Amino acid sequence: MNTDAIRQRLREHGQDHVLAWWDHLDDAERRALAGQLETIDLPRLKQLYAERDKTFAVPSAERIQPVPVIRRDADATHARRLGNEALARGEVAVLVVAGGQGTRLGFDLPKGMFPVGPVSNKTLFHFHAEKVLALRRKHGQPIPLLVMTSHATEAPTRQFFEEQRYFGLPKDEVWFFRQGVMPALDLHTGKLLLETKGSLFTSPNGHGGTLTALAETGLLDRLKQLGVRQVFYFQVDNPLVKVADPVFLGHHLAADAEVSSKVVPKRGPTEKVGHFVTVDGRCTIIEYSDLTEAQVHEKDERGEYKLWAGNPAIHLFSVDFLARVTQGQTRLPFHVARKKVPHLDAQGNPVKPDQENALKFEMFVFDALPLADRWTVVEADRAEEFEPLKNATGADSPETVKRAISNLAAQWLEQAGVAVPRTSEGHAAHPVEISPLHALDPEELATKVDKKLKVAGPLHLE
Ligand code: UTP
Repeated sequence: MNTDAIRQRLREHGQDHVLAWWDHLDDAERRALAGQLETIDLPRLKQLYAERDKTFAVPSAERIQPVPVIRRDADATHARRLGNEALARGEVAVLVVAGGQGTRLGFDLPKGMFPVGPVSNKTLFHFHAEKVLALRRKHGQPIPLLVMTSHATEAPTRQFFEEQRYFGLPKDEVWFFRQGVMPALDLHTGKLLLETKGSLFTSPNGHGGTLTALAETGLLDRLKQLGVRQVFYFQVDNPLVKVADPVFLGHHLAADAEVSSKVVPKRGPTEKVGHFVTVDGRCTIIEYSDLTEAQVHEKDERGEYKLWAGNPAIHLFSVDFLARVTQGQTRLPFHVARKKVPHLDAQGNPVKPDQENALKFEMFVFDALPLADRWTVVEADRAEEFEPLKNATGADSPETVKRAISNLAAQWLEQAGVAVPRTSEGHAAHPVEISPLHALDPEELATKVDKKLKVAGPLHLE
């Protein structure tokens, strides 16, 4: 550890205040702090601070066009066959991003450990892992499950999988990898903030950190060696996700796409979600806040909203694309957010701010979409595929998520010919749940369920 070199480098960038307590640290603390400092790109941080008020250039209205979407009523026979063949050749891996801090939910453990099963109380991780296991059994091929964690979620996530015996998956097919971190900067001075006398305040570098982390940890090479060609990407907070959906895979393969994405119809023109559009012919997501009132209300000749496609954060990336965009000079931009960050002041006293005092920097995975030369976008039904757990109460909360799981199970049962009592609002009258190991889709359920089944109380088919 070359302390002089570290100090010199920090001084050149006006950041040597972070060594104020260096002489009081023990060896282990010094090593840890030096390790944190070594990974920091100080010139880049300086540039990010200088550009903190620069907003992303919003393309002019004529450059933004509706994205072409493969609609739900399109014939899926060919796509399903192609997708199933790719799964049966072992060419598909599944990647769940689970590095977020889940601040809005206010749960102390990683969000993936939150129980959402309306009858079983199964956790999000459990649902996802069982879907992978069911696909693995069906296709007789390994489907690596890549779990992206962060410094905050890594240890409890690994421990949970271990305790739960990987939910039945072979241990060597569950690959954990950790995303990078970014330090926070003081809003007014651009200085690094200390969390303790021996550590900087850092936070996960955003779900866009997935791409670099995959490459840097060597997992991308490992996927290639294994013959995996496509990576199915989703967020840990969505229990309805159709993991490695064969139809989605098939559309992606038929178009020889580098990236494919699912979209869901927005709940209304002003729903605050990312919007799928094209900009200069490239698939792009534009934040709701970057569009004008006129743009979100504009209708086409059939009277439908032009920009109807919202982002549920479900993508397919080809391994070749991931390799291409993580080599060389390509890098995703950082988005800046103003946050309240507890830290130590110049005297080493803890400060708990009541106003935004710091800048945090995150990369977003969807900034990779415009880099794709070939891409497809496929429509999904929200009730069947997307209900994220974000908040403790209200919208996108445990209550809505459990209800959505029950309602979907009820819909599958009804499709299979079973009568399910409904409330006056149309929800399943009793909690209902179908384990992914019992059936992965309504067609599979129909082959197993007895039409005379009575749903008179909570029901769990497993
Ligand atoms: P969100 O942006 O909704 O964040 O992440 P969050 O951590 O779940 O919740 P809040 O905003 O703090 O309340 C969407 C998905 O991206 C992952 C999350 O784990 C979640 O699956 N994510 C987010 C990461 O893996 N890393 C990050 O740095 C940020």
